[in-house]
Amino acid sequence: MTDRITIRRPDDWHLHLRDGAMLAAVAPHSAGFGRAIIMPNLVPPVVTGAQAAAYRNRILAALPDSAALQPQMTLYLTDATEPADVVAAFRNGIIRAVKLYPAGATTNSASGVTDFDRVQPVLEAMAEAGVTLCVHGEVTDPAVDIFDREAVFIDRVLDPLRRRTPGLRVVMEHVTTSDGVAYARSGGDDLAATITTHHLVINRNAILAGGIRPHYYCLPVAKRESHRLALREAATSGEARFFLGTDSAPHADSAKLQPCGCAGCFTAPNTMSILAQVFEDEGALDRLEAFASLNGAAFYRLPPNDDRITLVRRDRPAAYPARIDAGGETVTVFDPGFPLFWHQED
Ligand code: DOR
Ligand code: ZN
Repeated sequence: MTDRITIRRPDDWHLHLRDGAMLAAVAPHSAGFGRAIIMPNLVPPVVTGAQAAAYRNRILAALPDSAALQPQMTLYLTDATEPADVVAAFRNGIIRAVKLYPAGATTNSASGVTDFDRVQPVLEAMAEAGVTLCVHGEVTDPAVDIFDREAVFIDRVLDPLRRRTPGLRVVMEHVTTSDGVAYARSGGDDLAATITTHHLVINRNAILAGGIRPHYYCLPVAKRESHRLALREAATSGEARFFLGTDSAPHADSAKLQPCGCAGCFTAPNTMSILAQVFEDEGALDRLEAFASLNGAAFYRLPPNDDRITLVRRDRPAAYPARIDAGGETVTVFDPGFPLFWHQED
């Protein structure tokens, strides 16, 4: 049995680092990734190149000197986003991508897109300039069942949007369904999908069976087991269109443990140990590097990281904190429900 693998340093193509005391607490836990796409859903959101550049500086200040992480910034698409501003921020190297949140779909998405006709000129300018659109793919129509919102979004919003914007590079963020996997496979080289660590591990029973478990609640919400199995098959397939975006999304426990608790799983501290176990269980350790270190960089037209990390399987489970402190609050680390024998050395 393989008990040691060395892979190119992984990247995280979907990460929430927040701001202020929370940023200071969580950023060091992502320092071992080479690059990360940083989500712009702060309060207020990151909507200009100047805000993205300032946020990048705050992130760098929160990282230890030894950190490998190079933050890749995004702008938050609103009905008022100007095409020229997006293209200028991209050409100046300030942003790597633009994030589309349908208004009201998730945490801090109130400023998101309400009218897709209004943003069409921005999408066309992005297609022309080669700027990637990262999409939170859920409809917000209250009439649509929450477990169907990803599949309905593909039909109602994403497919029409892609058809009217040829050449637009799109990442379907955190796909959670076999429908999402199938749609990602139906596109060409300009379509890809990220998959989170936690959606490879939990299905909806983890949230709801035997008691309600807020630390497993995220958006898009975990679906039934057949969808989790489709995600594991896609992630471990080695196909270039699927890559890691953890969507590590820390919230204070005081905000999660509420009658109306926040969505998000904090997976930054143990993601690589969990992924190694998942890929081992699927007999696909030789494809972990493609998923975590190669495919995302290639989609974003970047070289893989130069250096490497080593994961070692030991008899003793890896120790990681159950929760971390963040400015007087605690943030619970995602519990995969199994011991983690893979330790990261670097
Ligand atoms: O679970 C989630 N948490 N999903 C999202 O889309 C947003 C994120 C957050 O920012 O907390
Ligand atoms: Zn997210």
